[in-house]
Amino acid sequence: MQLTVNSLAASLALLAPSAHALLRFSCSQLVVERLDPLVFPGVTGSPHVHQIIGGNAFNASMEYPRLDIPSEATCTTCTFAEDLSNYWTAVLYFRARNGTFKRVPQMANSGFEGAKGGMTVYYTPSYNNGKVTAFKPGFRMIVGDPTYRTEAQAKKFRQLTYTCLENILTRTGETLDMPKKPCKAGIMANIRFPTCWDGKNLDSADHSSHVAYPASGTFESGGACPSTHPVKIPQLFYEVIWDTRAFNNPNDWPTDGSQPFVWSFGDPTGYGNHGDYMFGWKGDALQKAMDSNCNINCPQLKTQSISQGNQCTKQVTVNEDIDGWLKELPGGMPVTDANGKVLY
Ligand SMILES: *[C@@H]1O[C@H](CO)[C@@H](O)[C@H](O)[C@H]1NC(C)=O
Ligand SMILES: *[C@@H]1O[C@H](CO)[C@@H](O)[C@H](O)[C@H]1NC(C)=O
Repeated sequence: MQLTVNSLAASLALLAPSAHALLRFSCSQLVVERLDPLVFPGVTGSPHVHQIIGGNAFNASMEYPRLDIPSEATCTTCTFAEDLSNYWTAVLYFRARNGTFKRVPQMANSGFEGAKGGMTVYYTPSYNNGKVTAFKPGFRMIVGDPTYRTEAQAKKFRQLTYTCLENILTRTGETLDMPKKPCKAGIMANIRFPTCWDGKNLDSADHSSHVAYPASGTFESGGACPSTHPVKIPQLFYEVIWDTRAFNNPNDWPTDGSQPFVWSFGDPTGYGNHGDYMFGWKGDALQKAMDSNCNINCPQLKTQSISQGNQCTKQVTVNEDIDGWLKELPGGMPVTDANGKVLY
């Protein structure tokens, strides 16, 4: 019964967008390593491991306009071939009872099988057919904060959640913290970015304050943007599925009843969930797609198959073991609690 209800909810979720068009597509994994051109530009070996998808211009240093992504990248892991943007999140580790860490593999979403993991990316223009302004060349942003460890902090960002997957199509029961019980089909991290822009700045010191949430209501309810951030931008949304199935045996979980997953930035709570974005669509392709209200498939855009996307690769620049049973998280990242206390 549970399965039927969830599948039904999922098919409704997939059908619903026809009322308000959106782009929904797959981007395979490009590279997994400790690079962070947004927060630590030029540093080879940033503090925590990231998983990056999108164009192959990605590297440690991507200041605009020195590096113009669409003219620098020669391929993308995304199925919309004109999307050379980079999207990234942290990666998830399982902590065994003996204290070692193992990276949790990532898997593709339903319908996008065949990709090397990766993410599902959405751009939703609007829920009430209003016009949106696509991101400009050089635009970048972060949503979420890796230092957060409490629910009150996580609530500052409205829509950074987890779905405990009963099956690959489960889309109900989002939580702000990491699921507390084993999730049969994996854990999906949902990362929705703010939808209002100040109209001027491509970036800001904290990489977040040039964007904002609607002043009242929500993006989904058609809430108006605040006067400080009056320009409506598309809602960017990542779904990232962590394949926790190999770690679901209760005998491998902590004896104190806590859950065993920690983010690569040392967060055992899940409240530090965050995502990074560097816009890199060619020309006005994204604006055209937003204006035409195309839905999921977009004839206005050039597409490539998932297997073509998989051929787009980038060499790892930080050579280290991120996949063994590790004594500590890569980069020596400590795992910390809400008081900043190092747990292990
Ligand atoms: C990043 O790529 C640019 C362009 O190819 C190159 O000039 C620069 O040296 C690279 N930076 C790093 C830190 O790898
Ligand atoms: C720690 O536990 C994991 C999972 O059971 C196991 O694969 C690994 O070999 C263990 N490592 C050590 C050093 O005991």
